[in-house]
Amino acid sequence: MSQNRRDSAKAKTRKAKTQGRDRAEADGRNARVKPKRVYKPKDRFTPKRVNKRTMKEVKKNVKGLAFGKRSHVSVVKMIAEGLRAVGQLSVYLELGTAKGACFNQVAPLADVAIAVDHDPDKYEYVYQNKNLVWHASTTKEFLKRYRGDPFDLVFVDAGHEFESSWYDFQHVAPLVRSNGIILLHDTYPPNENFLHPDLSGDTWKTAWKIRQELSNKYEIVTLPFYFGISIVRKCRKQLEWHENEEAK
Ligand SMILES: C[S@@+](CC[C@H](N)C(=O)[O-])C[C@H]1O[C@@H](n2cnc3c(N)ncnc32)[C@H](O)[C@@H]1O
Repeated sequence: MSQNRRDSAKAKTRKAKTQGRDRAEADGRNARVKPKRVYKPKDRFTPKRVNKRTMKEVKKNVKGLAFGKRSHVSVVKMIAEGLRAVGQLSVYLELGTAKGACFNQVAPLADVAIAVDHDPDKYEYVYQNKNLVWHASTTKEFLKRYRGDPFDLVFVDAGHEFESSWYDFQHVAPLVRSNGIILLHDTYPPNENFLHPDLSGDTWKTAWKIRQELSNKYEIVTLPFYFGISIVRKCRKQLEWHENEEAK
């Protein structure tokens, strides 16, 4: 084949590919093309790995309790649906989104959904949410800088050491609207293996401390499954309508 014929064959293939892409875009087939990443991490991030043996041991002990389809996600989603049903879910925040198992279920229910994870690679798991605001930063940096609307629902699930989860709770609570809800994960580890910092850690102490020291400002109930989910309501009065009556 002469050089000229080879060039024209190549040009034809290129044209066919471009037309195919245009057609696919026109009928929406390419709608899930990944947008460009908006964040460039300054430091290299090395995720912590869970020790395989620990994980195996944990799974053996809680078989069917919190893995796969049955997990904390169903509870977070149910609460989000409840808030939405009464028109009280505008801004959702998740601290520690990982692979978006929970975030991607809840985000579509809110008007604005904010994802925070210090691992910038996690963006690719949540990018498809149209109302997404993505922050590749530590929870500390995010909470210091946040100046937006108050949160209606927050899911705290980032660092699992007590210091970290207590910090997150203390600093996110003032940014939550009155009667808004904060969910804390991993507050009821089902056995000692879960105290591993890559699993539940000692986050349970945060729920305990809220109950012991802050019961005048927060209602708290801990569900003893799926590693423990604490539902915290920021309240001034026992019932929301008492506050409304007072304001009249
Ligand atoms: C247990 S996973 C979150 C799981 C997720 N919420 C879900 O339900 O599928 C914890 C995530 O928090 C992130 N993380 C841990 N410490 C953090 C911190 N201090 N700031 C921001 N993200 C953090 C980790 O990168 C990880 O992706």
